[in-house]
Order: sequence, then C-alpha cells, then structure tokens
Amino acid sequence: MLKIRNLSKSFNKDTDNQIDVFNHFNLEIKANKCTAIIGSNGCGKSTLLNIIGGSIKEDTGQIILKGRDISTFREEQRAIYMGRVYQDPSMGVSPSLTILENMSLADKKGEKFTLRRLIKKKNINKYIELLKDLGLGLEDKLDTKVKFLSGGQRQSLSLVMAAMKHPDLLLLDEHTAALDPKTSNVVMQKTKELISKYSITTIMISHNIRDAIEYSDRIIMLDKGQIILDKPSRNVTEEELITIYRTKLDEKIA
Ligand SMILES: Nc1ncnc2c1ncn2[C@@H]1O[C@H](COP(=O)(O)OP(=O)(O)O)[C@@H](O)[C@H]1O
Ligand SMILES: [Mg+2]
Repeated sequence: MLKIRNLSKSFNKDTDNQIDVFNHFNLEIKANKCTAIIGSNGCGKSTLLNIIGGSIKEDTGQIILKGRDISTFREEQRAIYMGRVYQDPSMGVSPSLTILENMSLADKKGEKFTLRRLIKKKNINKYIELLKDLGLGLEDKLDTKVKFLSGGQRQSLSLVMAAMKHPDLLLLDEHTAALDPKTSNVVMQKTKELISKYSITTIMISHNIRDAIEYSDRIIMLDKGQIILDKPSRNVTEEELITIYRTKLDEKIA
C-alpha cells in the first residue's frame, strides 16, 4: 500500500547544526492495518509523517502509494489521498468556522475551488449521521463555532473530517497527546471504530506505548531514524518496550 524507499533527510544541511534524521530508510505499510510508530523524542517520527504527507521534502528517496510514486506531488495533491490529524487540536479544523462549515470544507477536499455555496443542504444528513456515530452530541451543535468545542471534541471532529472521504492513508501524529487521559481514551476508541469501519490504512504516532499496543496491528520503534523493533502488536508487551527505552536511555547517558 505504502512503500518508502531509500529515504534520506537531513536538516540544516552543510552547516554546523546538520541533523541527519534518515539515512537510506525503508518501510512498507500493509493495507487496512493500523501501524503504530513509537520512539523517543527526536527520533524522526514526525519528520517521517511530514515527508509522507508532503509538508517536508525528503533529500532523496521515493514515497510510493498504491504503486504510484507520489514523491513529486505537492502537499495539497497528497491531501486528496491522505487524511491527517495533528497533535494540536486547532490544526485539523478551522476554529472560527462552525462544525457544519468545517465538515463541508472537508467534504470538498480534492474538488476544484468554486464560488458555489460551501454548504450543500443535501449533505447535512450525512454529516449528522457521521457525528451521531461519535456519540458526543456534536450533531446538535452544527452551527457552533469549533473554537467553542473542547479539545476532545475537536480531535474527534478532526478525525471524522480526516476519514470522511475514505482516504487511502490516515496519518495521526500524537493526536491524543494534548488531551487528558479520559478524553484521550474516548478519542482512541473513536479512532479504532472509524478506521475499522472504513478499513482505513493508518499510521499512528503515539507517545503512549499502552495505546500503541492496544490500538494498532503492528508496532514499529524508531531510534535515530532506524527501525529497531517491528512486530505484530499482539506479540509485544509493555515491559518489552519499556526495557528497550531504558537501554537506549542508558546508552545516551553513558
Ligand atoms: N524543521 C526542522 N528544522 C530543523 N530540525 C528539525 C526540524 N524538524 C525536526 N528537526 C529535528 O529532526 C529530529 C527529528 O525530529 P522529529 O521528527 O520531530 O522527532 P519526533 O517526532 O520523533 O520527536 C530532531 O532532532 C529535530 O530537532
Ligand atoms: Mg513528533
């Protein structure tokens, strides 16, 4: 479904501050599975997602989605095939627009911009059904500006919007990290329901190893831009992951 071939990326190239994030990195993601990416701060998780999504350009390498090399596609072009939810609850939505306006915008993704009206009445019932599925009562708040929603409500809305057009790929970058534990659980549960309902291939960066194990099919641990663990999630234990983290931390301190 997604192949990353021979990816290399450095920041601040040819300066004293050069940071080599990836050096001939390869990864293959299977369709209809949720792959969790974990690893300590700065190991390259967000850079990887940004390169896939097209907001950061790789130095060398190819991104191949469903057999097509999309490396030259701009971020907006890739957005037609990919949904994204960010860590910051204000990133995936337009806070000053209403829920209905936000959903209508998400629904227009990939269409050429036209001056026709944004909200199509015939679509409203579809939005209501999608929101009802969330079970958060957002269907009764269609005309509420998104800035008045809680972080959890916004992230859930972002998720629904990202999944609405059934993208080939859903990219989640620590999308529950800014939420309190209870809300985070609700959003993770909604995430699971949505991706299984629509069989969306998902890459989920997680700061929470328990969530990573529980909600994914496969766990990949990165360290300094390299894969140091790659296993089916059902074969991974929290203890195992914590031990690896500790070992890496000790190496750093030593
Ligand atoms: N735009 C940028 N400019 C310079 N350095 C960056 C930039 N983005 C990320 N980095 C650096 O690249 C490394 C990987 O960062 P990142 O992918 O954000 O890590 P993670 O998401 O795993 O915490 C870090 O050392 C980070 O400081
Ligand atoms: Mg990150």
